[in-house]
Amino acid sequence: MKFESTDRQIRSFVLRKGKMTVGQKKAVEELMPVFAFDPKEKIDFTTLFGNDHPVWLDIGFGNGESIIHAAQKYPEVNFLGIEVHLPGVGHLLMAIKEFNLKNVRIIRNDAVDMLNLFIQDHSLSAIHVYFPDPWHKKRHHKRRIMSQEFLDLIRPKLRPSGRLHYASDWEPYAIEVQALLAENSWLTNQQPDNGFADRPDWRPITKFERRGIKLDHGTYDLIMTKT
Ligand SMILES: C[S@@+](CC[C@H](N)C(=O)[O-])C[C@H]1O[C@@H](n2cnc3c(N)ncnc32)[C@H](O)[C@@H]1O
Repeated sequence: MKFESTDRQIRSFVLRKGKMTVGQKKAVEELMPVFAFDPKEKIDFTTLFGNDHPVWLDIGFGNGESIIHAAQKYPEVNFLGIEVHLPGVGHLLMAIKEFNLKNVRIIRNDAVDMLNLFIQDHSLSAIHVYFPDPWHKKRHHKRRIMSQEFLDLIRPKLRPSGRLHYASDWEPYAIEVQALLAENSWLTNQQPDNGFADRPDWRPITKFERRGIKLDHGTYDLIMTKT
């Protein structure tokens, strides 16, 4: 599947070439046609997964660690992962095969474009944005995925009581997002005083969190519900 992008100017990623392992390459060749897809019209999740279980979307899943963990823990949930980085897609495809995960599907594309074009309103029970690139430099802040524009985009896609879960190890970004979420009264923080949450059992510690811990960073989870 070829990655085709729209002509939107500011994106939350830079497409890195990235080395593929032999296993990832093989998985991309053999399993991409089975578990990944390239939407051409609004996605019907019941047809895609063959059931009407709730759908949790993982945006920028990296190597797919969170999906691999949660898809086994919650077999009654369907997982849609959207990621642009091909080696990460290959890694998740390998795990889908290894653990025989029947409840995972992948789109290799820009999640913002996919939400805009192909995700139906009221179709998602959860949206997970874990360790999104913090774009440290001030002139790059406009690339941060968490923005009012992004919240406006996901608002209709979430079901009532649906969850938005953001996690980061970069405190300034987390504090900015905490304030942004507080301005959106359609979202209710599950913690008192709009506080950070403990890591819930559906989110494992990923490579990015471990890297942050080594650097003495904290971890900041914000778990919101659509009211
Ligand atoms: C820092 S990594 C975190 C990976 C993973 N969520 C984790 O916690 O381990 C951020 C990932 O988001 C992906 N990404 C950023 N913006 C994206 C977008 N608009 N659509 C799809 N993937 C995106 C990047 O390619 C990268 O793999």
